[in-house]
Amino acid sequence: MPKRLLLDTDPGIDDSLAILLALASPELSLEGISVVHGNCSVEQAVTNALAVLELAGASHIPVARGCELPLVQPSLLAPETHGQSGLGYAKLPPPQRQPIRQHAVDFLIEKLLAAPGEYTVAAIGPLTNLALAMRKEPRIIPAIRELVIMGGAIRHPGNTTPLAEFNTYVDPHAAHIVFHAGAPITLVPLDVTYQCILTPADVARLLQIDSPLVRFIAEATRFYMEFHDSYQGIEGCVINDPLALALTFAPALCEYEEYFVDVDIQGGVSMGKTFADFYHMTEKPANMRVALNVHTREFITLFLERIERLAREL
Ligand code: BDR
Ligand code: CA
Repeated sequence: MPKRLLLDTDPGIDDSLAILLALASPELSLEGISVVHGNCSVEQAVTNALAVLELAGASHIPVARGCELPLVQPSLLAPETHGQSGLGYAKLPPPQRQPIRQHAVDFLIEKLLAAPGEYTVAAIGPLTNLALAMRKEPRIIPAIRELVIMGGAIRHPGNTTPLAEFNTYVDPHAAHIVFHAGAPITLVPLDVTYQCILTPADVARLLQIDSPLVRFIAEATRFYMEFHDSYQGIEGCVINDPLALALTFAPALCEYEEYFVDVDIQGGVSMGKTFADFYHMTEKPANMRVALNVHTREFITLFLERIERLAREL
């Protein structure tokens, strides 16, 4: 039986790759996408989610529009990283479909309460939708089978401030609520995602297949690679969100340690910074397991093989 999956996302170039990886993975049954502000506006991110699903022949999957603003902080989008449209240089046809009428927060609540203990939730954007859902209906917390979060930077520098990672910086208050809710969290921070770089050679390999899906990936990642080159001196692009997605069905790609992890919401230079209590100084029990080591080549190979298979099947 495939794992039932709900994906909370802000597509977003690497989010789009995560959506495609989910569709390419028979271990998963992607049953809904809840969209949140982040890499681009929520309006644009909904359009992108619908367009990517159509590109992959998966128009049956419901897409719910979620929050357009963080809980407390002002909006912060990332056009320098993902382009004005959120998908780099890629241009997809306007989607034929609309999002469902239900708000993403209510969609998550309804799905989780209808099937307690069955859904894995992958959260690969700012955590605003999930935090609000947990506040509105706390009974969803014990109903979550596993919550895999792409976010934070434990020993790794930040990618948005010198200390903070994008998803936790954009809505640190939401991250604070979710981290302390008592859900079974697996955190996938920059410590592991920055080991996972899709290279120009990887994209050239995909381009051996004559497929609109592969051309989409090439055009989206061309922009993302230019960003990584000019801002971080990285050749290629970091595929954060696909790694988090892959861990929902292939957890052995990483190694984990259990820690009490918190996020700074005091403001100032470390706003949004995540930190682990490595030496148990707080004497607080672990609230999550954290991926701190990754089998990089196995993951990149899995990603490429799955995308190749999906592209050939379409
Ligand atoms: C995270 O921020 C976004 O740019 C990516 O989509 C990813 O979810 C990495 O910090
Ligand atoms: Ca994301």
